[in-house]
Formats: sequence, structure tokens, C-alpha cells
Amino acid sequence: MTLDEFLSACRQLAADAPAAIAVAQSPAEFADVRTQLVGRKHGRLADLMAQLTTLDAEHRRDAGRAVNDVKAAIEQLLAEREAAVAAASRTTDALDLTMPSRARWQGSLHPVTLVIDEICEIFRELGFTIALGPEAETEFYNFGALNFPPDHPAMELHDTLYLGKDTLLRTHTSPVQVRTLQQYAPPVRVLAPGNVYRRDFFDATHAPSFMQLEGLAVDEGISFADLKATLGEFARRFYGGARRVRFGPSYFPFVEPGAQMDVEVDLGDGKGTRWVEILGCGMVHPNVLEAAGLDSERYTGWAFGMGPARIAMSRHDIPDIRLLYDSDVRFLEQFAR
Ligand code: PHE
Repeated sequence: MTLDEFLSACRQLAADAPAAIAVAQSPAEFADVRTQLVGRKHGRLADLMAQLTTLDAEHRRDAGRAVNDVKAAIEQLLAEREAAVAAASRTTDALDLTMPSRARWQGSLHPVTLVIDEICEIFRELGFTIALGPEAETEFYNFGALNFPPDHPAMELHDTLYLGKDTLLRTHTSPVQVRTLQQYAPPVRVLAPGNVYRRDFFDATHAPSFMQLEGLAVDEGISFADLKATLGEFARRFYGGARRVRFGPSYFPFVEPGAQMDVEVDLGDGKGTRWVEILGCGMVHPNVLEAAGLDSERYTGWAFGMGPARIAMSRHDIPDIRLLYDSDVRFLEQFAR
């Protein structure tokens, strides 16, 4: 054999190898193709090696290098193909199509938050803006400026949570009335949502901490007719349709006259309609306007306060207020929107 013939046989083997290796899948097929190409005894490379001795002595060195290069190239192709096949089989093993999908949790707003947002939106349409005040209040804003006489029983230690001598957790959102009137000149129309605190037992109808929504409208020439019209319109927008409301007398030191508003609800439970009290309201007492620095001869106004938890309860026929605090997802998810 001449050197040229030998080198061309090497090139032929190098050219044939990739196609033969590319179809190998299983370990047995890899063993076969390896034997066929570079097997020690009968492979094509072994055949070439055997031919080395037939070459002239001065050509054996070049021929030996060429055959070694071909061997190295084939070994590398085999290793790469084996690694690729192994990696592909690993990913197929990891893909378990019988595994149940992971539950996706979709959060939702709390039913009381939904009620507050809805009421704020209705009053926004009626021209009200949002006002906020501190939950840690002074006796002046929580009681004194709201026309509570100094010895009023609502201020007793057993009724109110004091943080210090003069600081307490506000028992209602009405202090925001005074803070707003001190800060902004009439016309004022604000809605003040927020948390309030009372030394109440936690039972089916009371919670020691709960949300309130306060409303306040102050301007020249505001009358009880404005109060009735606005709150009636709110009830129709919130509860829907030709909703009936009624006002009855009630007492709060910071309004005169004071009233409560009931709304007629039908829960669709076959028990017919019934009246539910949803808020306290009244004309802002002149003493409150004066405490806030306003001339009570010039300005008048009305205010209301309601408990959105009570409203959520009447709307959904929820029997126990504690359900709204328990954070039981099975209960809360019924109201998810
Ligand atoms: N602040 C009163 C309460 O907590 C509610 C209220 C507000 C009544 C405004 C009249 C006017 O019970």
C-alpha cells in the first residue's frame, strides 16, 4: 500500500464516522458502532493499523499520526453523542405528566373592604373626598370638641382604651369631622373611613376594634333636607332600585337633631322585607362648628357614621361578626370578586 492510498483510507473512515455515530441511541447500539469503527480486533481502524506494516519504513510515521488523529476524532464524536443521548433521557424522566398541577391562589379583597370601597365610590360620585385622622386621639378631638360634657360616661376607663392620660384609641371616626373643619374652609364634603376601638367584648354583634365610615358636609345653607336626599340616594345606589329608607330620632351629643337611618332590605330568604339600621346621622351641633373655629351662625352641616361590617352582615345575611375577623378562607372566598 502506498502512503497516498493509506491517507485516503483514513479520510474515508473519518468521513463515514459521523453518520454511523449519529443514529446510535441505546447502549447496545453505541457498543456496536464503537466496535465497527475503532474496535481493537476487527474494526475499520484496526484494519488500517494492520496495513501500517505494508508501508515503506519512511512513511510509517506520517501514516501513524494520521490514523491516531482519526481515532481521536471518532472517540470524541462518540463521547459527545453519548452525553447528548443521556441528557435527553434525563429530561424525559423528570417530566412526570401524571403529577397534579400546583394550586394557584388568587387573593381577593375582604368583604368589609369591598363594602368600604363601594361606599367611597358612591360618595365620590356625589362630590365627596376622602379624609383620614389618627387612631390615637386626644380627649379633645374624640370627646370635648364633639360636645361631650366633661363627665360623660362614654369617657369612663371601662368604656374607652386609654394610651396615656390624655391619649386614647378613638372610639369613633367623628374626631375627623373636627380635624377636617380646622384644616379646610367650607364648603366641605368628606368621607372618613378608619378603624375605631371600644372596650367591648368580642361577641356575635360586637368587636373591640372595627371599621367606621364617617361622612360630613358643611357649607352655608345646608339643611336636614340635604342629609335626607344624599343618604337616600346613597341607599338606592348601594342597595339598588327603589329602596325605601326611613329616619327615626336618635341621640349623639355632636348632632342636633340626631337620627338613625334604616333601610328596607330583602335578603331573598323568603322572610320578606325588614328594616335594618345602617347609620347614625344628624345636623352638626353648633358647638362642634364653634370648637373647630367656624361661625355657627353662618355655617351649617350634617354628618353620619356607619359600620361597614354591619352593612356587609346585613347584605350577605352573616349571623356573627366574628366570621369577618377569623380569616377562614372557606368563609371569605364566598365573597371574592
Ligand atoms: N360617631 C357615632 C358613633 O360612633 C356615629 C355618628 C356619626 C352619629 C356622625 C351621628 C353623626 O356611633
